[in-house]
Amino acid sequence: MGYAQLGGVNLNLYRAHVLVCAGAGCVSSGCLNTMQALTDEIAKLGLDREIKVIETGCIGTCDLGPVIVVYPEGVFYRNVTTDDAREIANEHLLKGRTIQRLLYRNPLTSQLVQTYGEMEFFNRQIRIALRNTGLIDPEVIEEYIARDGYEGLARVLTTMSEEQVIATITASGLRGRGGAGFPTGKKWGFTLRAPSEQKYVVCNADEGDPGAFMDRSILEGDPHTIIEAMSIAGYAVGASKGYVYVRAEYPLAVKRLQLALDQARKYGFLGQNIFGTNFSFDIMIRVGAGAFVCGEETALLASIEGRRGEPRPRPPYPAVKGLWGKPTLINNVETFANICPIILYGAEWYSRIGTEKSKGTKVFAVAGNINNTGLVEVPMGMTLRQIVFDVCGGIPGGKEFKAAQTGGPSGGCLTKEQLDVTMEYDTLVAAGSMMGSGGLIVMDEDACMVDMARFFLDFTQDESCGKCTPCRIGTKRMLEILDRITKGEGRVGDIEALYGLAENIRETSLCGLGQSAPNPVLSMIKHFREEYEAHIREKRCPAGVCQALISYNIIASKCRGCGLCARVCPTAAVSGKPKEVYRIVRAKCVNCGACLEKCPFGAIVRS
Ligand SMILES: Cc1cc2nc3c(=O)[nH]c(=O)nc-3n(C[C@H](O)[C@H](O)[C@H](O)COP(=O)(O)O)c2cc1C
Ligand code: SF4
Ligand code: SF4
Ligand code: SF4
Ligand code: FES
Repeated sequence: MGYAQLGGVNLNLYRAHVLVCAGAGCVSSGCLNTMQALTDEIAKLGLDREIKVIETGCIGTCDLGPVIVVYPEGVFYRNVTTDDAREIANEHLLKGRTIQRLLYRNPLTSQLVQTYGEMEFFNRQIRIALRNTGLIDPEVIEEYIARDGYEGLARVLTTMSEEQVIATITASGLRGRGGAGFPTGKKWGFTLRAPSEQKYVVCNADEGDPGAFMDRSILEGDPHTIIEAMSIAGYAVGASKGYVYVRAEYPLAVKRLQLALDQARKYGFLGQNIFGTNFSFDIMIRVGAGAFVCGEETALLASIEGRRGEPRPRPPYPAVKGLWGKPTLINNVETFANICPIILYGAEWYSRIGTEKSKGTKVFAVAGNINNTGLVEVPMGMTLRQIVFDVCGGIPGGKEFKAAQTGGPSGGCLTKEQLDVTMEYDTLVAAGSMMGSGGLIVMDEDACMVDMARFFLDFTQDESCGKCTPCRIGTKRMLEILDRITKGEGRVGDIEALYGLAENIRETSLCGLGQSAPNPVLSMIKHFREEYEAHIREKRCPAGVCQALISYNIIASKCRGCGLCARVCPTAAVSGKPKEVYRIVRAKCVNCGACLEKCPFGAIVRS
């Protein structure tokens, strides 16, 4: 069976399958109650022998949660409450009537979309790393096996040499999805050739980039694919032990991974003499405290060893000297999630997807001012415009696209003029940004680029481990300057001071955190310098975001004296008498904007 034909779960035994997303996003929207109501109602109606409810990992449309997909039709229901779930059981599952009210509406055309397959958000994706998430129950190993799970490992152990495995990964063109895009096959080759009796494989599931959650979704939705891929890697490089380093903020991922490890051991897919061969391999989980710097590979290794999570100079690289001084292969979760399909369907199949220098697909965590936020997996080389407008439905409220930040706090922004940049490693660097782990934050015309730069720098400053002075102190000085600018206290020369500090920090910091921390600031100044000048010279925030630089006023000629503004004002800053013109007392106003939103006559302006 070809890869493209793989889809869905076993539909033979039941009349219908109801997939209920139980990823962390939907769990926080109440999907567990929704699912309970659904299963109770199905049982009440006596349908439980013909309808199977399956709890899956993230489907990708987290802002629409709780999400339910009913097969075989593939009807996609969004924001399903417990009452809605009972209605689905009674109307859809019993009487075969789709509940139109709960369908997804295309944000551009306002049309209701009847099925999952007709949603632009899904049908423009190619799901390789996410092939199982949202489709199978991650807590049931048989569902993974039914999707060719552990077949890749069996094939590797029984028919391929170490070199053949590495040659396949190399030929596929797969590059590391953790940020730097280093060729995966090459890294595996380095680790294989490093001489040692003991080697390790590490999966980096630290995922500290704010807004990114693809690794969490894979671990929550398809943990066995990581176990299988790490075992394949262990065989290829000659390792017998693996570690998954995952942050403590991901309890569901940890729980499902632990369950999957126990199941894999029970089935003999982990442990001694796997598939009756000489290969033995096991995996342990290490839970990190959730520090961004611990995603940096040398800090991560130190943390696994029980030391303080601080980076060290490289070389030696982990492939030569890693955990406890032994050669260690370290790859990202999404990188590992591509391994089994490459083994099963071949390097040639994989390398046909994507572009010349960036093969395969990339998962993006799309957030910000965009209609469809969530996870999308698209072929490398899709343009930013296609992702923002075609896949994710464009900008809400008919507002203008202003910029998109890629590469998280280490990356840069792409502007309206760069919407046709193809999303692949090298073109993003050439455009002044980077791929990073795949965070994609979209900003509309109301975003302030000084405030955004301050947000990212605030994050990296806070996360600096403090080992080296330029990163620890330099980012603090930069942040102070940005703080002043947003408060209307910017000085002529601040932009030049930011450039000077940035250069110093970039060149003299020990690890990638410091080296890349100034990137968002530099990129935003480069593209939106006039906004910085307006803040500094005119004490004006053109986007009306920086609180200290805005004020609210009532236009006397428009005010009808209805008093609504005074009623919503939290600080009693609005005074006036009914049917007379109201006024705002500047000293009391905290610039919350509630009055502006409430005024029915457009009499309040922000300036
Ligand atoms: C500050 C910093 C944070 C990082 N965080 C992560 C992370 O959360 N996950 C990750 O896979 N790689 C992260 N990396 C990159 C890793 O150091 C390493 O390159 C990666 O795990 C290698 O895997 P790959 O080749 O599969 O991409 C980070 C790097 C830096 C400098
Ligand atoms: S650059 Fe920053 S995060 Fe990296 S080692 Fe130095 S102080 Fe720590
Ligand atoms: S902006 Fe907020 S605090 Fe100021 S007057 Fe309006 S409601 Fe009151
Ligand atoms: S809500 Fe508008 S119209 Fe009414 S009193 Fe306030 S400013 Fe005047
Ligand atoms: S967690 Fe349910 S769609 Fe992402």
